[in-house]
Amino acid sequence: MKGVILAGGRGTRLYPLTYITNKHLLPIYNKPMIYYPFSVLMLAKIREVIIVTNPEDLQNYKILFGDGSFLGMRVYYAVQDSPRGLSDGLMQSRKFADGDSVMLTLGDNIFFGHGLPEILKKGVETVKKEGGACVFAYYVNDPERFGVVEFDEFGSVLSLEEKPKKPKSNYAVTGLYIYDETVFEKIERLKPSDRGELEITSLNEEYLKEKKLKVEILGRGFAWFDAGTYDSFLEAGEFVATIEKKTGLMVGCIEEIAYRNKWITKDQLMKLAKNLEKTDYGQYLKKLAETI
Ligand code: TTP
Repeated sequence: MKGVILAGGRGTRLYPLTYITNKHLLPIYNKPMIYYPFSVLMLAKIREVIIVTNPEDLQNYKILFGDGSFLGMRVYYAVQDSPRGLSDGLMQSRKFADGDSVMLTLGDNIFFGHGLPEILKKGVETVKKEGGACVFAYYVNDPERFGVVEFDEFGSVLSLEEKPKKPKSNYAVTGLYIYDETVFEKIERLKPSDRGELEITSLNEEYLKEKKLKVEILGRGFAWFDAGTYDSFLEAGEFVATIEKKTGLMVGCIEEIAYRNKWITKDQLMKLAKNLEKTDYGQYLKKLAETI
Protein backbone atom coordinates (compact mmCIF):
# COMPACT_ATOMS: atom_id res chain seq x y z
CA MET A 1 0.00 0.00 0.00
CA LYS A 2 1.17 3.50 -0.84
CA GLY A 3 0.47 6.82 0.85
CA VAL A 4 -0.97 10.00 -0.65
CA ILE A 5 -1.24 13.42 1.02
CA LEU A 6 -3.31 16.20 -0.48
CA ALA A 7 -1.67 19.54 0.14
CA GLY A 8 -3.24 21.64 -2.59
CA GLY A 9 -6.43 23.68 -2.43
CA ARG A 10 -6.83 27.41 -1.91
CA GLY A 11 -7.24 27.64 1.85
CA THR A 12 -9.69 30.52 1.43
CA ARG A 13 -11.13 30.07 4.92
CA LEU A 14 -7.75 30.98 6.37
CA TYR A 15 -7.18 34.13 4.29
CA PRO A 16 -5.06 36.26 4.70
CA LEU A 17 -2.84 33.61 6.36
CA THR A 18 -2.85 31.56 3.17
CA TYR A 19 -2.39 34.37 0.60
CA ILE A 20 1.27 33.46 0.37
CA THR A 21 1.83 30.36 2.46
CA ASN A 22 0.33 27.00 1.56
CA LYS A 23 -2.02 26.03 4.41
CA HIS A 24 -0.24 22.78 5.22
CA LEU A 25 3.03 24.59 5.91
CA LEU A 26 1.49 26.76 8.63
CA PRO A 27 2.51 25.83 12.17
CA ILE A 28 0.43 23.64 14.44
CA TYR A 29 2.28 24.46 17.68
CA ASN A 30 5.87 23.35 16.94
CA LYS A 31 5.65 21.66 13.53
CA PRO A 32 4.33 22.32 10.04
CA MET A 33 0.72 21.14 9.73
CA ILE A 34 1.63 18.49 7.13
CA TYR A 35 3.78 16.59 9.66
CA TYR A 36 0.61 15.36 11.36
CA PRO A 37 -1.07 13.60 8.39
CA PHE A 38 2.38 12.50 7.21
CA SER A 39 2.95 10.83 10.57
CA VAL A 40 -0.37 8.98 10.29
CA LEU A 41 0.89 7.29 7.11
CA MET A 42 4.11 6.44 8.92
CA LEU A 43 2.15 4.92 11.82
CA ALA A 44 0.41 2.73 9.22
CA LYS A 45 3.93 1.60 8.22
CA ILE A 46 3.61 3.15 4.78
CA ARG A 47 7.07 3.92 3.48
CA GLU A 48 6.34 5.38 0.06
CA VAL A 49 4.41 8.62 0.06
CA ILE A 50 3.44 11.19 -2.56
CA ILE A 51 2.60 14.79 -1.77
CA VAL A 52 0.13 16.38 -4.18
CA THR A 53 0.22 20.16 -4.18
CA ASN A 54 -0.20 23.36 -6.22
CA PRO A 55 2.49 24.25 -8.77
CA GLU A 56 3.60 27.34 -6.82
CA ASP A 57 4.05 25.38 -3.57
CA LEU A 58 5.87 22.33 -4.89
CA GLN A 59 9.36 23.65 -4.24
CA ASN A 60 8.68 24.27 -0.54
CA TYR A 61 7.59 20.68 -0.01
CA LYS A 62 10.67 19.43 -1.81
CA ILE A 63 12.81 21.45 0.58
CA LEU A 64 10.90 20.11 3.58
CA PHE A 65 10.90 16.39 2.74
CA GLY A 66 13.47 15.97 -0.04
CA ASP A 67 13.51 12.39 -1.28
CA GLY A 68 12.46 11.19 2.17
CA SER A 69 15.70 9.32 2.83
CA PHE A 70 16.33 11.22 6.10
CA LEU A 71 13.31 9.27 7.38
CA GLY A 72 14.24 6.02 5.67
CA MET A 73 11.34 6.61 3.28
CA ARG A 74 10.71 7.54 -0.32
CA VAL A 75 8.83 10.76 -0.86
CA TYR A 76 7.50 11.74 -4.29
CA TYR A 77 5.67 14.80 -5.55
CA ALA A 78 2.85 15.54 -7.97
CA VAL A 79 1.18 18.75 -9.05
CA GLN A 80 -2.54 19.43 -9.14
CA ASP A 81 -2.64 22.41 -11.49
CA SER A 82 -5.87 23.76 -10.05
CA PRO A 83 -8.02 22.76 -7.06
CA ARG A 84 -10.66 20.69 -8.81
CA GLY A 85 -11.55 18.68 -5.73
CA LEU A 86 -10.17 15.93 -3.53
CA SER A 87 -10.83 13.09 -5.96
CA ASP A 88 -9.07 15.05 -8.68
CA GLY A 89 -6.13 15.57 -6.30
CA LEU A 90 -5.98 11.85 -5.63
CA MET A 91 -6.06 11.16 -9.38
CA GLN A 92 -2.69 12.91 -9.70
CA SER A 93 -1.12 10.01 -7.80
CA ARG A 94 -2.24 7.33 -10.26
CA LYS A 95 1.17 6.75 -11.84
CA PHE A 96 2.83 6.65 -8.45
CA ALA A 97 0.28 4.11 -7.12
CA ASP A 98 1.07 1.91 -10.11
CA GLY A 99 -1.76 -0.57 -9.48
CA ASP A 100 -1.36 -0.68 -5.70
CA SER A 101 -3.94 0.23 -3.05
CA VAL A 102 -3.61 3.64 -1.35
CA MET A 103 -4.06 5.35 1.98
CA LEU A 104 -5.10 8.97 1.47
CA THR A 105 -4.81 11.72 4.08
CA LEU A 106 -5.78 15.36 3.82
CA GLY A 107 -2.92 17.69 4.61
CA ASP A 108 -4.96 19.69 7.13
CA ASN A 109 -6.26 16.77 9.21
CA ILE A 110 -4.85 15.92 12.62
CA PHE A 111 -5.60 12.65 14.40
CA PHE A 112 -4.62 11.72 17.91
CA GLY A 113 -5.64 8.83 20.10
CA HIS A 114 -4.57 5.68 21.85
CA GLY A 115 -4.65 2.66 19.53
CA LEU A 116 -4.44 4.63 16.27
CA PRO A 117 -1.71 2.36 14.80
CA GLU A 118 -3.87 -0.74 15.46
CA ILE A 119 -6.94 0.85 13.86
CA LEU A 120 -4.87 1.81 10.82
CA LYS A 121 -3.43 -1.68 10.61
CA LYS A 122 -6.89 -3.23 10.71
CA GLY A 123 -8.10 -0.92 7.92
CA VAL A 124 -5.07 -1.68 5.78
CA GLU A 125 -5.46 -5.44 6.26
CA THR A 126 -9.18 -5.37 5.47
CA VAL A 127 -8.69 -3.47 2.22
CA LYS A 128 -5.74 -5.64 1.21
CA LYS A 129 -7.68 -8.85 1.90
CA GLU A 130 -11.24 -7.97 0.88
CA GLY A 131 -10.78 -4.97 -1.43
CA GLY A 132 -13.16 -2.01 -1.26
CA ALA A 133 -12.65 1.11 0.81
CA CYS A 134 -12.41 1.97 4.48
CA VAL A 135 -13.19 5.41 5.89
CA PHE A 136 -13.28 6.73 9.43
CA ALA A 137 -16.19 8.63 10.99
CA TYR A 138 -16.16 10.92 14.02
CA TYR A 139 -18.99 12.45 16.05
CA VAL A 140 -19.07 16.25 15.63
CA ASN A 141 -21.32 19.12 16.65
CA ASP A 142 -21.16 20.83 13.25
CA PRO A 143 -21.75 18.02 10.70
CA GLU A 144 -22.93 20.47 8.01
CA ARG A 145 -19.23 21.39 7.44
CA PHE A 146 -18.31 17.84 6.39
CA GLY A 147 -19.25 14.71 4.47
CA VAL A 148 -21.85 13.00 6.69
CA VAL A 149 -22.62 9.27 7.11
CA GLU A 150 -26.11 7.99 7.84
CA PHE A 151 -26.29 4.60 9.58
CA ASP A 152 -29.21 2.20 10.04
CA GLU A 153 -30.02 0.68 13.44
CA PHE A 154 -27.49 -2.11 12.83
CA GLY A 155 -24.67 0.27 12.04
CA SER A 156 -24.70 -0.31 8.26
CA VAL A 157 -24.13 2.74 6.08
CA LEU A 158 -27.30 4.02 4.42
CA SER A 159 -26.07 7.20 2.76
CA LEU A 160 -23.29 9.73 2.42
CA GLU A 161 -23.89 13.43 1.90
CA GLU A 162 -21.41 16.22 1.24
CA LYS A 163 -21.92 19.32 3.44
CA PRO A 164 -25.69 18.72 3.88
CA LYS A 165 -27.90 21.61 5.04
CA LYS A 166 -29.88 19.14 7.15
CA PRO A 167 -27.43 16.41 8.22
CA LYS A 168 -28.92 12.96 8.83
CA SER A 169 -26.42 12.23 11.61
CA ASN A 170 -23.58 13.83 13.56
CA TYR A 171 -20.97 11.50 12.08
CA ALA A 172 -18.48 13.29 9.84
CA VAL A 173 -16.22 11.40 7.45
CA THR A 174 -12.67 12.33 8.45
CA GLY A 175 -9.79 13.05 6.08
CA LEU A 176 -8.32 9.56 6.12
CA TYR A 177 -9.31 7.00 3.50
CA ILE A 178 -8.08 3.59 2.41
CA TYR A 179 -8.88 2.53 -1.15
CA ASP A 180 -8.25 -0.62 -3.14
CA GLU A 181 -6.62 -0.49 -6.57
CA THR A 182 -9.97 0.15 -8.38
CA VAL A 183 -10.00 3.70 -7.01
CA PHE A 184 -8.64 5.40 -10.12
CA GLU A 185 -11.14 3.73 -12.49
CA LYS A 186 -13.86 4.93 -10.14
CA ILE A 187 -12.55 8.52 -10.16
CA GLU A 188 -12.57 8.44 -13.97
CA ARG A 189 -16.33 7.85 -13.86
CA LEU A 190 -17.12 10.73 -11.48
CA LYS A 191 -18.91 13.87 -12.59
CA PRO A 192 -18.18 17.29 -11.04
CA SER A 193 -20.60 18.38 -8.29
CA ASP A 194 -22.71 21.56 -8.33
CA ARG A 195 -19.70 23.46 -6.96
CA GLY A 196 -17.63 22.14 -9.88
CA GLU A 197 -15.41 19.74 -7.91
CA LEU A 198 -14.70 16.01 -8.14
CA GLU A 199 -15.81 15.23 -4.61
CA ILE A 200 -14.39 12.59 -2.32
CA THR A 201 -17.94 11.86 -1.18
CA SER A 202 -18.87 10.92 -4.78
CA LEU A 203 -15.95 8.49 -4.81
CA ASN A 204 -17.01 6.96 -1.50
CA GLU A 205 -20.55 6.65 -2.89
CA GLU A 206 -19.17 4.53 -5.74
CA TYR A 207 -17.83 2.08 -3.15
CA LEU A 208 -21.10 2.27 -1.20
CA LYS A 209 -23.08 1.36 -4.37
CA GLU A 210 -20.94 -1.77 -4.68
CA LYS A 211 -21.47 -2.48 -0.96
CA LYS A 212 -17.75 -2.18 -0.50
CA LEU A 213 -17.51 0.78 1.85
CA LYS A 214 -16.49 0.11 5.41
CA VAL A 215 -16.92 2.87 7.97
CA GLU A 216 -14.94 2.61 11.20
CA ILE A 217 -16.02 4.90 14.00
CA LEU A 218 -13.29 6.75 15.86
CA GLY A 219 -14.69 6.84 19.39
CA ARG A 220 -14.42 9.20 22.33
CA GLY A 221 -10.81 8.32 22.97
CA PHE A 222 -9.80 10.11 19.77
CA ALA A 223 -9.30 13.70 18.87
CA TRP A 224 -9.72 14.80 15.28
CA PHE A 225 -9.19 18.28 13.88
CA ASP A 226 -9.64 19.68 10.43
CA ALA A 227 -7.42 22.71 10.89
CA GLY A 228 -8.92 24.69 8.01
CA THR A 229 -10.63 27.54 9.90
CA TYR A 230 -9.22 30.15 12.31
CA ASP A 231 -10.73 28.46 15.34
CA SER A 232 -9.98 24.84 14.46
CA PHE A 233 -6.43 25.86 13.49
CA LEU A 234 -5.90 27.49 16.87
CA GLU A 235 -7.62 24.65 18.76
CA ALA A 236 -5.41 22.05 17.05
CA GLY A 237 -2.27 23.96 18.07
CA GLU A 238 -3.47 24.34 21.65
CA PHE A 239 -4.39 20.67 21.79
CA VAL A 240 -0.95 19.53 20.61
CA ALA A 241 0.77 21.90 23.04
CA THR A 242 -1.31 20.61 25.96
CA ILE A 243 -0.76 16.93 25.15
CA GLU A 244 2.96 17.38 24.59
CA LYS A 245 3.46 19.31 27.84
CA LYS A 246 1.34 16.92 29.91
CA THR A 247 2.79 13.67 28.56
CA GLY A 248 6.31 14.71 27.64
CA LEU A 249 5.75 12.93 24.31
CA MET A 250 5.45 14.56 20.94
CA VAL A 251 2.49 14.30 18.59
CA GLY A 252 3.30 13.96 14.89
CA CYS A 253 7.08 13.84 15.31
CA ILE A 254 8.16 12.25 12.03
CA GLU A 255 11.77 11.65 13.08
CA GLU A 256 10.63 9.80 16.20
CA ILE A 257 8.26 7.53 14.25
CA ALA A 258 10.95 6.78 11.66
CA TYR A 259 13.27 5.75 14.52
CA ARG A 260 10.65 3.69 16.37
CA ASN A 261 9.76 1.98 13.04
CA LYS A 262 13.47 1.16 12.71
CA TRP A 263 13.64 2.98 9.39
CA ILE A 264 16.58 5.08 10.63
CA THR A 265 19.46 4.24 12.96
CA LYS A 266 20.45 5.83 16.24
CA ASP A 267 23.27 7.68 14.45
CA GLN A 268 20.89 9.09 11.88
CA LEU A 269 18.53 10.27 14.61
CA MET A 270 21.43 11.90 16.46
CA LYS A 271 22.36 13.80 13.29
CA LEU A 272 18.79 15.02 12.86
CA ALA A 273 18.78 16.09 16.50
CA LYS A 274 22.03 18.02 15.99
CA ASN A 275 20.46 20.21 13.29
CA LEU A 276 17.78 21.21 15.78
CA GLU A 277 19.90 21.30 18.90
CA LYS A 278 18.86 24.79 20.02
CA THR A 279 15.23 23.73 20.25
CA ASP A 280 13.16 21.56 22.56
CA TYR A 281 12.41 19.52 19.44
CA GLY A 282 16.09 18.73 18.96
CA GLN A 283 16.57 17.96 22.66
CA TYR A 284 13.63 15.57 22.47
CA LEU A 285 15.18 13.70 19.54
CA LYS A 286 18.55 13.57 21.31
CA LYS A 287 16.98 12.11 24.45
CA LEU A 288 15.17 9.49 22.35
CA ALA A 289 18.39 8.43 20.69
CA GLU A 290 20.11 8.21 24.08
CA THR A 291 17.41 6.25 25.86
CA ILE A 292 15.77 3.90 23.33
P1 TTP B 1 -10.74 21.99 1.76
O1 TTP B 1 -10.48 22.38 3.18
O2 TTP B 1 -12.08 21.50 1.41
O3 TTP B 1 -10.38 23.19 0.79
P2 TTP B 1 -9.19 24.22 0.88
O4 TTP B 1 -8.02 23.64 1.58
O5 TTP B 1 -8.95 24.77 -0.48
O6 TTP B 1 -9.73 25.33 1.87
P3 TTP B 1 -10.91 26.42 1.75
O7 TTP B 1 -12.21 25.65 1.76
O8 TTP B 1 -10.71 27.22 2.99
O9 TTP B 1 -10.70 27.23 0.51
O10 TTP B 1 -9.69 20.88 1.34
C1 TTP B 1 -9.42 19.78 2.14
C2 TTP B 1 -7.98 19.38 1.95
O11 TTP B 1 -7.72 18.94 0.63
C3 TTP B 1 -6.99 20.47 2.22
O12 TTP B 1 -5.93 19.89 2.94
C4 TTP B 1 -6.55 20.93 0.84
C5 TTP B 1 -6.73 19.73 -0.02
N1 TTP B 1 -7.21 19.97 -1.39
C6 TTP B 1 -6.44 19.61 -2.46
O13 TTP B 1 -5.30 19.13 -2.29
N2 TTP B 1 -6.94 19.77 -3.72
C7 TTP B 1 -8.18 20.29 -3.95
O14 TTP B 1 -8.59 20.39 -5.13
C8 TTP B 1 -8.98 20.67 -2.82
C9 TTP B 1 -10.35 21.24 -3.01
C10 TTP B 1 -8.45 20.50 -1.55
